[in-house]
Amino acid sequence: MDFLPTELPRHIGIIMDGNGRWAQLRNKPRIWGHRMGVKTVDIITSECARLGIQQLTLYAFSSENWQRPGEEVTYLMSLLRRFLLTELRKLQENNIRFNAIGKLDRLPIRVQDAIEHVRDRTSHNTGMTLCLALSYGGRLEIVDLAKALARKVIAGEIAIEDIDETLCQANLYQPDMPDLDLLIRTGGEMRISNFLLWQVSYAELWITPLLWPDFTEQYLHQAIVDFNKRERRFGKVPCQKALATTSV
Ligand code: FPP
Repeated sequence: MDFLPTELPRHIGIIMDGNGRWAQLRNKPRIWGHRMGVKTVDIITSECARLGIQQLTLYAFSSENWQRPGEEVTYLMSLLRRFLLTELRKLQENNIRFNAIGKLDRLPIRVQDAIEHVRDRTSHNTGMTLCLALSYGGRLEIVDLAKALARKVIAGEIAIEDIDETLCQANLYQPDMPDLDLLIRTGGEMRISNFLLWQVSYAELWITPLLWPDFTEQYLHQAIVDFNKRERRFGKVPCQKALATTSV
């Protein structure tokens, strides 16, 4: 595949929305859409690793998703476990390190065991990190970070004055997670939905009405091409304007 972007995002996050609608459009139960969505997860993970992306984080189950019908939650959990166990071989072949973030202790024990197994087995890999956000909420991550820092202050390990952005980053679920560069959302909704609230600060957003099971490598390439066209100013003024100002 001759896809050569000038600059790759270091960290891509994806809100994989639209599985339910994809199934309903085909008169199938919603869980069928999730099953098809797993195939897209497999394809997009391999392609991101091939391109040389440093980290891919997928929003696979939010802290709010526990409120879905019990049958759907149970199905998603078994799908997740099966995905982890069958994907392991491919992760090894592609030198991918696996991680998961969120309130993992809320997950069924069999899923927790599968996460630990895949995390251990891939910990020596040096290529892309695939991170699944599971039972994850961005606000909860910030609450947990506040608790961790408060405990350290009480224990006398740090002073309140020591708390800065670097120390906050070091107490997130995955401290070495790069800031999100590109956030892709399928399913057309124009919102962040509590995903990586700390890390999303300067991410470029790429939202498509495509439903997740219809997302392919070609759309991923398009998102990266569009990312390359964006001017990322990080709150500063563009270079040319800065020059114009100094010459006045
Ligand atoms: C949103 O679609 C999707 C989810 C809540 C779960 C995402 C899960 C997968 C892609 C499959 C399992 C993942 C892995 C990593 C094994 P929706 O159900 O909200 O769709 P809708 O907006 O059309 O209702």
